[in-house]
Amino acid sequence: MGIEATSKPMDLQDKVALVTGAASGIGRAIALRMAALGARVVVADINEIGGKETVGLVDSAGSDAHFVRCDVTSFDDARATVAKTREVFGRLDVLVNNAGWDIVQPFLEHEPSFWDKVIAINLKGPINMSRAAFEAFVEQGDGGKIVNLASDAGRVGSLGETVYSACKGGIIAFTKALAREAVRHGVLVNAVAPGITDTPLVAGLDQKVMDAIVKTIPMRRMASPDEPAEVVCFLASASNTYVTGQVLSVNGGLTMV
Ligand SMILES: NC(=O)c1ccc[n+]([C@@H]2O[C@H](COP(=O)([O-])OP(=O)(O)OC[C@H]3O[C@@H](n4cnc5c(N)ncnc54)[C@H](O)[C@@H]3O)[C@@H](O)[C@H]2O)c1
Repeated sequence: MGIEATSKPMDLQDKVALVTGAASGIGRAIALRMAALGARVVVADINEIGGKETVGLVDSAGSDAHFVRCDVTSFDDARATVAKTREVFGRLDVLVNNAGWDIVQPFLEHEPSFWDKVIAINLKGPINMSRAAFEAFVEQGDGGKIVNLASDAGRVGSLGETVYSACKGGIIAFTKALAREAVRHGVLVNAVAPGITDTPLVAGLDQKVMDAIVKTIPMRRMASPDEPAEVVCFLASASNTYVTGQVLSVNGGLTMV
């Protein structure tokens, strides 16, 4: 007996998506792709100029987006951003925890103030946003999707990204634990773990280091931001009916865990 093929396209029609860190890089690619698939998008970021540029790009592609200034390290901002999303677009269907930050340097050169910032943005940020979105999903009573941008750093560790790796590993565990609690409310929670992706976050890395990393990738290139974005869109879409608590690496085969 053959397997029935379905040709159902990825569908985000009329969904409302809140994407953090959408002023740049992978978050901007997610916002643009989600809008192209029919979603209305809230671009949430501390970078107002970049965020409004993303909104302009979505608008000029004929879709609908709205910028909200949001610092994910603040739970008050998280709640206010979810409330604003529901005020502007009427509801919330999808949260993408994409905002992230790091500087590559040896652990022995870190100061505790640097750890605090890395943890506040990369670990506490998604926790703040997920709690605010989950409250809205439960109140709306008809499910929802959360997609967290983890990293291969959180699966296998990344040299020079010690505390960042700890945060991304934490996000993977958080994804699984929340997925277990959220499923009874019809909320699916997953993580995407990009490998090295061509965005401003990695633009400052030494070229020799970059060349050495790229040589270790079976596909011999970095990802374009569109590549993790595509996987995020699937997990957030109506086409995802049975995937929850999972971590999917988008890394050209670099790690296979
Ligand atoms: N680029 C890579 O190679 C790579 C690899 C693995 C994982 N990731 C993850 O993917 C996500 C996106 O990374 P990117 O490469 O597109 O980075 P980027 O630097 O291009 O974009 C990050 C965005 O997050 C925003 N941001 C930072 N702090 C914030 C805060 N406190 N509140 C709200 N917004 C804030 C920034 O303003 C920026 O717009 C991050 O979570 C990152 O850790 C990236």
